[in-house]
Amino acid sequence: MTRGLAVEAIDLVKRFDETVAVDGVSFSIPAGSVLGLLGPNGAGKTTTVRMLTTLSVPTSGTGRVAGHDILQEPEAVRRSMGLTGQAATVDELLTGRENIRLIGRLYGLPMTYLRERADRLLEHFALTEAADRMAKTYSGGMRRRLDLAVSLVAAPPVLFLDEPTTGLDPRSRAELWEVLKRLVADGTTLLLTTQYLEEADHLADQIVVIDKGKVIASGTPMQLKDQAGKASVVVTVSYAEDLDKAADLLRSAAPEVYVDRTSRRLTAQASGLSDMTRIAGVFADSRIAVDDLGLQRPSLDDVFLHLTGHRAEADDNAADQARPEEVLR
Ligand SMILES: Nc1ncnc2c1ncn2[C@@H]1O[C@H](COP(=O)(O)OP(=O)(O)OP(=O)(O)O)[C@@H](O)[C@H]1O
Ligand SMILES: [Mg+2]
Repeated sequence: MTRGLAVEAIDLVKRFDETVAVDGVSFSIPAGSVLGLLGPNGAGKTTTVRMLTTLSVPTSGTGRVAGHDILQEPEAVRRSMGLTGQAATVDELLTGRENIRLIGRLYGLPMTYLRERADRLLEHFALTEAADRMAKTYSGGMRRRLDLAVSLVAAPPVLFLDEPTTGLDPRSRAELWEVLKRLVADGTTLLLTTQYLEEADHLADQIVVIDKGKVIASGTPMQLKDQAGKASVVVTVSYAEDLDKAADLLRSAAPEVYVDRTSRRLTAQASGLSDMTRIAGVFADSRIAVDDLGLQRPSLDDVFLHLTGHRAEADDNAADQARPEEVLR
């Protein structure tokens, strides 16, 4: 293993007939740190994770997990990692406790150890009370937690989480974040995919942004925000019919105006407070009703816009996955 690296993706490519789902992705994760793989629907996040976790064979390129080559030593890779997929994989007809024990037995863990381990995991994920109920009676948040508990049963040094908090309410998400932080503090290496910019910002030491199968940026959350450059002034108009007029007005006062019709929000580049004050003056003199006007530091969403020319919006066609309203807003 390249010293100190828990995961390496080396020029990974995955083709499905015409589609190049992953197009030469490379990155590495130092042991004990968190990498956030960030990208919109169809960017290639799941495909990348599937290759690294030996569930899918790369068209070309390779990778290493805990020093083991994914092509040469797939079994050693599987022994060193845990995976929580995008779709919950718990067995509905088993109880929470049985789900954990089943996977533990597959890993060949001795039953005495496994009993105690299952108890600890159930407690850790606040599932003790529900432990002996069939998983089909669990809520979405409880399933996610059980999924995570199951992937941790063998205490793997490397954990892959594919959109671990998608579909969770804000409280469950925050709770899961805390659990993940504790795992990392205990030395686990984490690769998590997410469409939540806030999540990557919150948890990741390093972010790799992918779009259409390619890495388009990487760095710490701060570095990426710095890359996106200046602050912006954001104006939310009260009525959608005023949007075009407002955009023209804003263009007369600032360069690079971006219009988001869904949220009735206009974003313009600004260098600071003086720009904002000037723009506020222009709107005050107009007949356009404004709900909100303010200065905004670059967010990771701005980073995305800056890099790709489009916002990392959730795909409306992806109706098979529950997506809370606030995704990438
Ligand atoms: N088994 C497959 N056969 C054909 N095409 C596939 C297959 N799996 C993925 N793809 C395509 O590869 C591309 C990347 O898909 P992938 O699931 O990796 O994206 P993602 O970033 O995980 O998206 P999401 O955020 O929706 O989960 C998409 O265009 C997808 O349609
Ligand atoms: Mg996916």
